[in-house]
Amino acid sequence: MDSRIPRFYDKSLGKRRQIVADRCSISEDAYEALIDTDERDLGAVERLSENVIGAISFPLSVATNFRIDGDDRLIPMAIEESSVVAAASYGAKLARETGGFTTSTSGPYMIGQIQVRNLSDPHGATSRVFERAGEIRAKANDQGVLVSHGGGCEDVTARVVDTPNGEMAVVHLVVNVQNAMGANAVNTMAEAVAPMIEDVTGGETILSVLSNLADCRIARARCTIPPDVLRSEKRALSGEAVRDRIVDAWALAVGDPYRAATHNKGIFNGMDALAVATMNDWRAIEAGGHAFAARDDYGPLSTYEIDTEGNLVCSIEVPVQVGVVGGATRNHPVANASMEILDANSAEQLSGIFAAVGLAENIASMRALAAEGIQAGHMKLHAKNVAIEAGAPEELIDEIAAQMVADDDVRAARARELISELNR
Ligand code: MEV
Repeated sequence: MDSRIPRFYDKSLGKRRQIVADRCSISEDAYEALIDTDERDLGAVERLSENVIGAISFPLSVATNFRIDGDDRLIPMAIEESSVVAAASYGAKLARETGGFTTSTSGPYMIGQIQVRNLSDPHGATSRVFERAGEIRAKANDQGVLVSHGGGCEDVTARVVDTPNGEMAVVHLVVNVQNAMGANAVNTMAEAVAPMIEDVTGGETILSVLSNLADCRIARARCTIPPDVLRSEKRALSGEAVRDRIVDAWALAVGDPYRAATHNKGIFNGMDALAVATMNDWRAIEAGGHAFAARDDYGPLSTYEIDTEGNLVCSIEVPVQVGVVGGATRNHPVANASMEILDANSAEQLSGIFAAVGLAENIASMRALAAEGIQAGHMKLHAKNVAIEAGAPEELIDEIAAQMVADDDVRAARARELISELNR
């Protein structure tokens, strides 16, 4: 197979698909799968990326039960993993007992970085940046982005960073990006001020780009859960016992990065699904979240405590880099529909919703892990997938899945046995 295809990007989508099919000798089924992509979706996605040959669809679901800052909302979620949407809805139901989630945000501030090397006096250079911060800020705001919307560069800082290649200076532009995710605006500003930074510092700039450690763009959410709703009949655990097990399970994440990574993965199950549904950049959200979680020793993004009345107090603090204007959010018709369902009117409100969804997801995981274990819930949906893969006809899928779960025997071979038994 030769992967050199001159001007591949210039060809029509159909031609590109044909070339790939020929070069990779894909099966007829695979080719049909590429063709069967909804043509309406194709128009939207072709504008988003390069060398497009099709579109891959995720289930778009809606999580229920959310009350956030006093308003009920349905949360659009696009994710391939079973149980995530059910878990978010369950976590929101637990929080709803006491009025749902309360959120706050630090403001829509992103950081743009300019790297400067070849400095004989890095500390003197950073001092000069502070002295001329007003001029640098004005140059950044000269770019015609954000300022007309009430945003723009509001602060300029600099510091010396010790690197394997010696000391360098890093200049930060702190930019109010208003309702945008802000990557384009911040990158434009960072590149525009680079020549001036060279002038001021006497060094040479290399990279000019935003930082995804968006620690000036923090969203917080919290909720309180009375212990009785946490009880487990199945495991004969009282609400207080489950609550205490949740707090100890969280404590492990504080002490152990192996657990913290999984704890935070559960949080991003929810946040990523909302990001995909609204076509926000989930890689930025994840990069920022994990870097923020690692600012001391890597730890959990959420916290679990017990208040004086014995309730479980759940909270989360996480950078959320999302926008309600620009990017793919408003260009993709389905993302646009998700935004209409969500009804968030500012990036700050949207980031509070993201934090609440991450927390709801995490609460449900913690309740499941601390009480019945995670597989009990997963297995119900997994069993359906196993039944489908084993070839169960539509009308038998639920029955076969339920039987396998009841027998605690979820395997393709067992599903095939049940298919022939029930077909007899
Ligand atoms: C699975 O996708 C996510 C969980 O593992 C999260 C967690 O362990 O907290 C259930």
